[in-house]
Amino acid sequence: MENEVENIKFLDLVRGALSVDDLEQARISLLGKKGEITNLMRSLGQMDVKERKVKSPQYNRLKQTLEQAIKEKRDTLLKKEIEARMDAEWLDISQDPREMNTGLVHPVSRVTEEIVSIFSDLGFSVAEGPQIESDWYNFDSLNIPPDHPARQEFDTFYINPDDNGRSENVSPNVLRTHTSPVQVRFMEKHGAPCRIIAPGRVYRSDYDLTHTPMFHQIEGLAIGEGISMSNLKWVLVEFCKAFFELDSIDLRFRASHFPFTEPSAEVDIRCSWVANSLVVGKGDDWMEILGSGMVHPNVLEAANVDSTKFQGFAFGMGIDRLAMLKYGMPDLRSFFDNDIRWLKHYGFAAEKSSNLYDKLSG
Ligand code: PHE
Repeated sequence: MENEVENIKFLDLVRGALSVDDLEQARISLLGKKGEITNLMRSLGQMDVKERKVKSPQYNRLKQTLEQAIKEKRDTLLKKEIEARMDAEWLDISQDPREMNTGLVHPVSRVTEEIVSIFSDLGFSVAEGPQIESDWYNFDSLNIPPDHPARQEFDTFYINPDDNGRSENVSPNVLRTHTSPVQVRFMEKHGAPCRIIAPGRVYRSDYDLTHTPMFHQIEGLAIGEGISMSNLKWVLVEFCKAFFELDSIDLRFRASHFPFTEPSAEVDIRCSWVANSLVVGKGDDWMEILGSGMVHPNVLEAANVDSTKFQGFAFGMGIDRLAMLKYGMPDLRSFFDNDIRWLKHYGFAAEKSSNLYDKLSG
């Protein structure tokens, strides 16, 4: 009878376990090295033969009953734990996925890439120069001496001006007003002949529908022996046809003046405004897209190029203007507002990364 009570106490210990850990504790306290049942089994050795004959089968049965009970209990507990985890970690696969925010390529970056790729087909390579420029490179070397009226026309941002707002006497630095200083920097370093384009940011104190204080230009320069104005015209017409994807293009070469080219021409493209957006090739409006001309001998000499041997052409185009024309954007100022709605509307999917994805998954 006493045994029965003991047995029930052991079984309760097993059945009362609340977790797998709990059950393991119970098992150790019963069947472990120093467990109660282990001790009982050990005590058989001290008994006389008669007593052992009675107790031994009892103890063994008890041990087997407990082992069986532990196994069953472990199974139920494990099952319960798995069910609890499945409840807790349940995933609603029917739910809508979270929106992915993929970035887009800004029209200026996209158009710069398009222009660079067209000119590299024509044999031009890419050069660069600093945005903070000395007034030697921005003006003097380009045949614009300190008192030349053209300095005023540029609406220059001066850095460290002296008391009179002029920079001649102290640290003569400016935010470059055009990409033309790259002409001189490049020829000085690499000499002639050469054929380069130089895209980048330029700065002028100006602000309206088609002007922003920071904008983008791309400079072109081709120097060699026997280069003429007709080479310039051919390159520009070919470029415009490729860029606007048109078989023929209406360009207007207007005689103009730049101190660093002689003769000089400004080039306009035929366009019109239809429903608040710009259309290229049709209409009665003209939009100026670039300045150009034959590089002035003084510029070649400033860059240590022999002007009796070499000559060539240069041009400077407004990248943002070309973007407005090609993609029908009415207001240049919105290019740099960082308005996410504008960027989403006019931005381009990143072709490069999708190609990469194809490569990775293919
Ligand atoms: N630098 C001129 C401008 O910004 C453009 C230009 C470049 C003109 C090269 C002639 C030759 O207006």
